Amino acid sequence: MQLHLSSWPEIEAYLQRSTALIVPIGSTEQHGPNGLLGTDAICPEVIAKRAGDEAGLLVGPTFNVGSAQHHLGFPGTITLRPSTMIAAMKDWADSLMRHGFDRIYWFNGHGGNIAPATAAFAEIYADASFGRIGANGRSLKLQLKNWWELPGVMGVCRELFPVGEGSHATASEVSVTYFAYPDAQKHVEMTPKIAPTGPIRDADDYRRRFPDGRIGSDPSQATPEKGQKIVEAAVKALIADFQSFASGD
Ligand code: NI
Repeated sequence: MQLHLSSWPEIEAYLQRSTALIVPIGSTEQHGPNGLLGTDAICPEVIAKRAGDEAGLLVGPTFNVGSAQHHLGFPGTITLRPSTMIAAMKDWADSLMRHGFDRIYWFNGHGGNIAPATAAFAEIYADASFGRIGANGRSLKLQLKNWWELPGVMGVCRELFPVGEGSHATASEVSVTYFAYPDAQKHVEMTPKIAPTGPIRDADDYRRRFPDGRIGSDPSQATPEKGQKIVEAAVKALIADFQSFASGD
């Protein structure tokens, strides 16, 4: 069940049985020569949508522009400053909480989002503690989960890509997007075969260190079939993880 494809009476009815939802959170940033700019938003969105359909969970709209200043040296990248992202996440959460949602599971596809999302949680919890949301009410619960860290998922990725998985524009994430959008596949020869590794600083430094955008990866190994295996493992794990989040204290 997707929020943006529902009517307000349907959301009102959903709230009678659950006050928890999943919000995919990603980024719009370069993903190397054969990766889609939307990769980090598409991965959590596709996994969450399937989990939602399978288990009747509500999935919110994808927060699809995140914190990606270091990718601005490549055309197409769009970023929020960390302070803007913190404010935007807070407004999303405040809107949802006004309707009665008090369990928000942010399902993340981008490592650069972790710091601002954690700071946004601190802001949202601070407001709850100051009583704006109502003193001594049912307590608010937020969670940030990276899709690749769901139980069992990393094992599948390692098995599929023992060499050249990398840490940005990974063979796994590109596979997931190719499974979701097979017509968007791009066949590109990688030079060097496996990209360099190094620290992440500002956009100019990034482009000098990682000229084609990849870090440590060989995403030419990506296929829709491999993506399907990853998605299937992640959907199963997401349903279990979200249900325990939604029902637990
Ligand atoms: Ni990515």
